Amino acid sequence: MKATAIVRKGRVPVPDRFARQCEWEAGDKVHLSTDAPGRLIVSRTKPSDNLLRSYPAPQNGTVLTGGAVLRKAGLEIGDVVAIELRRDGKVSLERVDPRSEQGFVSPERDEHDMPIPPGWLCQAFTSMPDPRRYLRSGERSAKLILELAEKHGQELSPESRILDFGCGSGRVARFLPRLTPGQVLACDLHPDAIEWCQRHMGFGEFFQGQLTPPMHIEDDSIDLMYAVSVLTHLDMDHQLAWLSEWARILKKGALAIVTFSGDDFVEKVLAHAPGYQDAIRETWAANDGFAFIDDDGWRGVFPDAYQNAYQTWDSVRKIWGEFFTVEDILASGEFSNRQNCAILRKP
Ligand SMILES: C[S@@+](CC[C@H](N)C(=O)[O-])C[C@H]1O[C@@H](n2cnc3c(N)ncnc32)[C@H](O)[C@@H]1O
Repeated sequence: MKATAIVRKGRVPVPDRFARQCEWEAGDKVHLSTDAPGRLIVSRTKPSDNLLRSYPAPQNGTVLTGGAVLRKAGLEIGDVVAIELRRDGKVSLERVDPRSEQGFVSPERDEHDMPIPPGWLCQAFTSMPDPRRYLRSGERSAKLILELAEKHGQELSPESRILDFGCGSGRVARFLPRLTPGQVLACDLHPDAIEWCQRHMGFGEFFQGQLTPPMHIEDDSIDLMYAVSVLTHLDMDHQLAWLSEWARILKKGALAIVTFSGDDFVEKVLAHAPGYQDAIRETWAANDGFAFIDDDGWRGVFPDAYQNAYQTWDSVRKIWGEFFTVEDILASGEFSNRQNCAILRKP
């Protein structure tokens, strides 16, 4: 099956296995050219025609583009490309129709006979179009969520209803049927991801989400919900709207397990970007510990309202605490994706 990826602002990430296959060494000079509309060619020998850009290759194989390069190759941010190592040793990235490419229509299956999303539907939710990494991290998150639920006294039976809010292409939810008897409901804003889950997952109820509430879920009817890396992308108005909605649909005493990017996340995970850290901290100081940074990084993939939210532990305790009892907060590194994780209980 061909590797696929989404063209993002300034770059197209390439799956690890593909980068290894291409034997790109860090620092090798690579050249971008085009030989047809919608097709970008990466080569190590300098092409005689249509050279668009040359640069030292990053080790992970990421293809570095730029607005002008994309325009000349007839590509746009948000396009899905099939990545192929050709016989002549060149790599081609060619636009495909996402809903008719092979991984969308008839995906490969894992060792449990569960379908694996195509690379581009892994990348949209984990940043890398690498299914193996996607599966590993999803299993770890699912196990941790259920362990946390058990630790906090939440028993799950076949009648229990579990909601994965912002499920993406089902990275976490796909493991639930093997780990818990509860019924799975899952929603997301990304229509392709939801359609892929509806077509292939074979369990639970996957449905299209909305930017703002309400959801078509009755009051007091959910036993456990989680939102992994969802509020990390929403501004304060959307966070407040969803916290209030979750408080409506959860049963009294039920848990919500919700990740956020807090003080220690910013300190550790963003250590490579001190200027960005300073901007977040300055905004925190002026804005009661909340910063919403619009970096336009997911243009073409998610709605414009989807950016990056950072919030201090104190702000989470105060603001999320208006809707829920904040039972615990996990430090960065204790949950699967290095985000912080709040364990909330509906009073
Ligand atoms: C970083 S992704 C994480 C996806 C998934 N939770 C995972 O961990 O693989 C964040 C997801 O939140 C979803 N999202 C944001 N706001 C939402 C909303 N109002 N309703 C449903 N999904 C939403 C986005 O569509 C996106 O798929």
